[in-house]
Amino acid sequence: MGYDLKMKVWRGDATGGDLVDYTVPVEEGEVVLDALHRIQATQSGDLAVRWNCKAGKCGSCSTEINGKPRLACMTRLSTFEPGETVTVTPLRTFPVVRDLVTDVSYNYRVAETVPAFAPEPRPADGQYRMQQVDVERGQEFRKCIECFLCQNVCHVIRDHEENKPAFSGPRFFLRYAELEMHPLDTNDRRALAREQAGIGLCNITKCCTEVCPEGIHITDNAIIPMKERVVDRSFDPVTWLGRKIFRR
Ligand code: SF4
Ligand code: F3S
Ligand code: FES
Repeated sequence: MGYDLKMKVWRGDATGGDLVDYTVPVEEGEVVLDALHRIQATQSGDLAVRWNCKAGKCGSCSTEINGKPRLACMTRLSTFEPGETVTVTPLRTFPVVRDLVTDVSYNYRVAETVPAFAPEPRPADGQYRMQQVDVERGQEFRKCIECFLCQNVCHVIRDHEENKPAFSGPRFFLRYAELEMHPLDTNDRRALAREQAGIGLCNITKCCTEVCPEGIHITDNAIIPMKERVVDRSFDPVTWLGRKIFRR
């Protein structure tokens, strides 16, 4: 059954903006992105909102809905109490381009700094081999849709723009962990994770894990194991002595 939904949508650009009130007719079963599209179609044709798949797989429609980072295409209107106003604002951690669209290029710059997968040479029979347990461990990390909701919610950069050059963020700690745990990869990313990616700035608040729409256990399965590996490398006396001797 249809009803009128009250919404507040942030409108503006890099110079400033404000919440604008809308009342939009919606249908049972619809999602927040449907309501935004109806506003575009019937009231404000110039409302800017980024989206692509409408299926929770492209990671484009990330916004903050009633203060919580979420995918607009996966947030059902039935999530809210009857009569509750739904407020949609742009991701706070990234600069606004216009309305609900933010400039997430910080994440692409960080992505470029992670060394690519570097497999060891193929064995004589040409067949790479991996244990099934290693295959399965990496699968969870590869579910990432790069929505950057975890990046948006992490307080290390959400409240501290100045930390961005020294902090890669949870999405990329996931990438470091995926590659570091890959048995065929020859790169050692532990020093980079500490010195370049700033994994030490993460104090395990787990907010990233809470907002991940793919349900990836970012903190427990990627960040904490990665921190342990970084500490092993930095403080293991044998490794330390080896680095001294060979000046690595
Ligand atoms: Fe989005 Fe989860 Fe990937 Fe972070 S780890 S970018 S929250 S899918
Ligand atoms: Fe940030 Fe996640 Fe660590 S929210 S502080 S990266 S556990
Ligand atoms: Fe693709 Fe929402 S439109 S994840």
